[in-house]
Amino acid sequence: MKAILLQHYGDLSALKIDEVPTPVLSVEEVLVKVKAFTISPLELKIRKGEAKMFVRRKLPMLMGVDFSGEIVAVGSAVQAFNVGDEVMGAIDPFKQSGPYAEYVVAKTDQLIPKPAELSFEIAAALPIAGASALSCLRDLGKLKSGQRVMILGAAGALGHLAVQIAKQMGASVTGVCRASNFEFVKGLGADEVIDYTVQDPFEREEAYDLIIDIVDKYTFKQAQQALKKGGIFINTVPGPAKFLQVALNPFRSKKMALLMLKLTTSDLAWVTNQVKEGKLRLHLDKIYGGLESIYEATTNVEAGHVRGKLVIKVG
Ligand SMILES: NC(=O)c1ccc[n+]([C@@H]2O[C@H](COP(=O)([O-])OP(=O)(O)OC[C@H]3O[C@@H](n4cnc5c(N)ncnc54)[C@H](OP(=O)(O)O)[C@@H]3O)[C@@H](O)[C@H]2O)c1
Repeated sequence: MKAILLQHYGDLSALKIDEVPTPVLSVEEVLVKVKAFTISPLELKIRKGEAKMFVRRKLPMLMGVDFSGEIVAVGSAVQAFNVGDEVMGAIDPFKQSGPYAEYVVAKTDQLIPKPAELSFEIAAALPIAGASALSCLRDLGKLKSGQRVMILGAAGALGHLAVQIAKQMGASVTGVCRASNFEFVKGLGADEVIDYTVQDPFEREEAYDLIIDIVDKYTFKQAQQALKKGGIFINTVPGPAKFLQVALNPFRSKKMALLMLKLTTSDLAWVTNQVKEGKLRLHLDKIYGGLESIYEATTNVEAGHVRGKLVIKVG
């Protein structure tokens, strides 16, 4: 099959399109013909070697995380899925070969059926961003109706979904983005917007119950002035220094939490159902065609201003 291989850690030229053997599945796995996959900042970090300490795989390796597609083979122990089923999900990029390819092998607890109402492109873009947005608000933030939440990175993948889910939960939402995204973020339901290029988002004192930093450009120290007593600051990009900071929290009446997503099929099904029912809108910035577009699409993600998500169509 044709696939995109990471040959060595480094810049974009480390990705090479090549012919590789179609992956072999175990009795508990399924083989999926990939219809679409997405690119997220985590994959850029893996490519550059910045997540090396977590990677349990040898180079060259197949990249990617979220995907959608059609099952073409099932292991002998698989009961939940059949050949021909349309599915969506995400693999663990630290342990498994990813979907930057014509085929990917997945475990059955990494997949759900793709509703007919969702395109393969939307289905590929939703899993990690959707489940992460939900987990930040519900599990780490314990957001309640009537509370105030600030979302730093409100126009991005996780952010634009978090704005909508927070509104559904009854919160008042401040979206932080550049001015060119104001209408987009307000259209998602944000009550107010702040342009981070001209205004310090944290200048209002003790205003927020929850602040979510999705872009990893702010610190707990900066944010704590804007947090109410008992408020929570969430960062979505964990690392050793931040784990230490959480453990040694210097602002005792305010808390910091780190997102360490463990994707579950129930959360994936919940966000998928929200999209199916029209309660959650996943915005696709751009749909690229073919594995060859990996270089242009990755450059776009790397620039850091994708609105919503982008995907690459494969099959
Ligand atoms: N730990 C976990 O389990 C987990 C799970 C999922 C994701 N993540 C991580 O979460 C991060 C975010 O992912 P994502 O896919 O949502 O990112 P993304 O879509 O690439 O974020 C792009 C957005 O960032 C905004 N942005 C850039 N600089 C900003 C700033 N200074 N202030 C506010 N917004 C700014 C841009 O908005 P403008 O164009 O308006 O500037 C753009 O819309 C990634 O690092 C990812 O690895 C972690």
